[in-house]
Amino acid sequence: MTLTEGWQFSRDGLSWQTVSVPHDWAISGPFDKKWDLQVVAIEQNGETQATEKSGRSGALPWIGEGHYKQLFTIPSDFSGHAELVFDGAMAEPTVKVNGQKAGYWAYGYNTFRVDVTPYLIKGQNSLEVDLQNLEESSRWYPGAGIYRPVKLVLTDKQHLDRWGCYFRTLSIEADKAEVEVTATAEGGNAIEVSILDGKGQTVVSAHNDIEKGGLICTTMEVANPQLWSPEHPNLYTLRVQLMDNGKVIDEISEKIGIRTVSVSREKGFQLNGQTRKLKGICLHHDLGPLGAAVNKAALIRQVKILKEMGCDAIRTAHNMPSQLQMEVCDSLGMMVMAESFDMWIYPKCKNGYARFFREWADKDITNLVLANRNHPSIVMWSIGNEIPEQGSEEGRKIAVRLQDLCHQLDPSRPVTQGMDRAEAALKSGMAQAMDVPGFNYRVHKYQKNYDQLPQGFLLGSETASTVSSRGFYRFPVEPNGKGIVYKDGQCSSYDVEWCSWSNLPDDDWVWQDDKDWVIGEFVWTGFDYLGEPTPYDEYWPSRSSYFGICDLAGLPKDRFYLYRSKWNTQQHTIHLLPHWTWPDRKGKVTPVYCYTDYPEAELFVNNKSQGRIKKNPAERLDRYRLRWNNVKYEPGELRVVVYDEMGKNCGEQTIRTAGKPAKLTLDAWTQSSQMAQPTLSANGEDLAFVTVSLVDENGTLIPDAVDQLTFEVEGAGTFRAVCNGDAKSLEPFTEPTMKLFNGQLVVVVQAAKQSGNLTLKVSDARQKITEQIIIPVK
Ligand code: GAL
Repeated sequence: MTLTEGWQFSRDGLSWQTVSVPHDWAISGPFDKKWDLQVVAIEQNGETQATEKSGRSGALPWIGEGHYKQLFTIPSDFSGHAELVFDGAMAEPTVKVNGQKAGYWAYGYNTFRVDVTPYLIKGQNSLEVDLQNLEESSRWYPGAGIYRPVKLVLTDKQHLDRWGCYFRTLSIEADKAEVEVTATAEGGNAIEVSILDGKGQTVVSAHNDIEKGGLICTTMEVANPQLWSPEHPNLYTLRVQLMDNGKVIDEISEKIGIRTVSVSREKGFQLNGQTRKLKGICLHHDLGPLGAAVNKAALIRQVKILKEMGCDAIRTAHNMPSQLQMEVCDSLGMMVMAESFDMWIYPKCKNGYARFFREWADKDITNLVLANRNHPSIVMWSIGNEIPEQGSEEGRKIAVRLQDLCHQLDPSRPVTQGMDRAEAALKSGMAQAMDVPGFNYRVHKYQKNYDQLPQGFLLGSETASTVSSRGFYRFPVEPNGKGIVYKDGQCSSYDVEWCSWSNLPDDDWVWQDDKDWVIGEFVWTGFDYLGEPTPYDEYWPSRSSYFGICDLAGLPKDRFYLYRSKWNTQQHTIHLLPHWTWPDRKGKVTPVYCYTDYPEAELFVNNKSQGRIKKNPAERLDRYRLRWNNVKYEPGELRVVVYDEMGKNCGEQTIRTAGKPAKLTLDAWTQSSQMAQPTLSANGEDLAFVTVSLVDENGTLIPDAVDQLTFEVEGAGTFRAVCNGDAKSLEPFTEPTMKLFNGQLVVVVQAAKQSGNLTLKVSDARQKITEQIIIPVK
């Protein structure tokens, strides 16, 4: 039973409001500099002097206490075992049942279980969860509250251990796979294990008598296995039944995938015996305007956007993923590096996890691995990110200990961590000790690192950290790697700006392409996230990141198409930038870039050729991009014609100068978007993301529009949130009004539990335009 509705929530223990869980108490704001103002030196960024920093953790009110209460009923004939499973609560949750302390967990990001059997009474029971978030406990927005689901699991006294059930693929041959299932139980005398295919047909099953310690371990053969991969995320169901004298007394059913993972000097990273390079991105856990409150539709949208780009892996930076996210990755086909910590013993921020590490690290790794090891999507564990002690013997020892613990609980996956001080980590031996040596940035050190590594390969565990703001272009266009800042608090979307420790996408690809021993990368980051507004750490009101390939609303920046042109090998990409509406730039040099997988193209301004050019591997910015650097702007039409290796014309793209604002377009994404009419499920949770754009008569975006819009939702649903992707907007996400940011924003609406039609009306008072969209809720 998932405890979703009817929670009482309070910040002060005096005034209470009814909320549903997942819940993030801070996401409604208001945004304010005061919430997380810090005077610090960001050592990871090479700073030595403390200065005033704002917006580092989102400028939202997540610091302080929060209290939740809930009543639940226990049937009068219940005499079994009861467990509460929290998928994460921010932070330091103390769990009380009927007034008695039943459990506590220190780390806000981890899943944990509380055996509540001793505290229950028949009939109505009370559950209380007390939380506290200390200031400077996170380097980004952590969210606040019970932001992931809570489940009450009632079983017989004799029961299966929910996390004691472990599936792994031992080997794969052409027509069969050998798999192993382990299960643990309390009581019972036998365990039946079955594997069912996608149609629910049993493909193999085994009866196992329980011997000592309540444990069984069985190997089984699956004939003609349908393997799991990002391209073909085939899933099976594992059914484990606890038997007592022929009677089923408990049962677990979980989705599993048959697949193998390995890393080696000869073959690099392999999935199902096939070498492939990880085309990954890093992701913090917040869902933009929804905050940390996890939501399945929002996770599906993220993964689908990433897959469209050709991305095949997510690194859950820098902490434990939610179960929902892993289920989505399993079913849609996305590999995962499941991470755990951003620090160990030495703090990166005053009240961070370092307070807990010595006492809790092993317990935290244990829960991460036990709760998640059956997800086929997870291909490696990560024990840390840029750990300050990577240069010491102490650090090396901890790395070995945590890696061993992962192996002990899950011998099927390699373990990594992201190291940023290569020399130090190689000197201490930490890098050599890892299954997968992961290096963050500093590609110029890759060769030297590789030369010292016995593993024979390395991973770009964190790459790029290129910065850009959707729809902003700076002139003259000049690559800048110093974390350049502008008066208006935005970065250029020509994708030529990065930070002192980082680089451009192109710089990573040179290594990915030219060296077999670089097994892939995880770009920082797939989506913008709340907090860490680098390079505007000292600039108010910046309060969210500029690193994203997509903005905070999930809208693609130009960079999305750069990655797509390289990563998506199934579909072609032709994308021109910048936009072509520059009333102040007539006759001025306005460089044009085309992101495409084609090697050659010709550009035309109002049908006048600007030259036919080819990618040039010898030049940093010309190996993966096509650039016309001397184009003079004239209003009208910009057209590119692309050619393949044989010189064959393969298509074109045209963009135009926008006329007067004429219409709002409303484009809804739902889980069913592939169908002609997007629909929502009447479950009270499903979300539609409606992209609103201000366009001219012909549908061309008004690229600098900042009109204030208002939203109204009627019928079978409610307004949930809105976001325009502007890192310095202080308009609350949860009020039904917001300015367009460079012509666009995204409105999130939520389905009711009853079916009907949901109508979203969007009004632009300035242009006197109202448009609406109707989404059936079924
Ligand atoms: C890395 C760090 C990330 C983020 C990033 C920004 O060094 O691991 O958490 O801070 O820099 O570029």
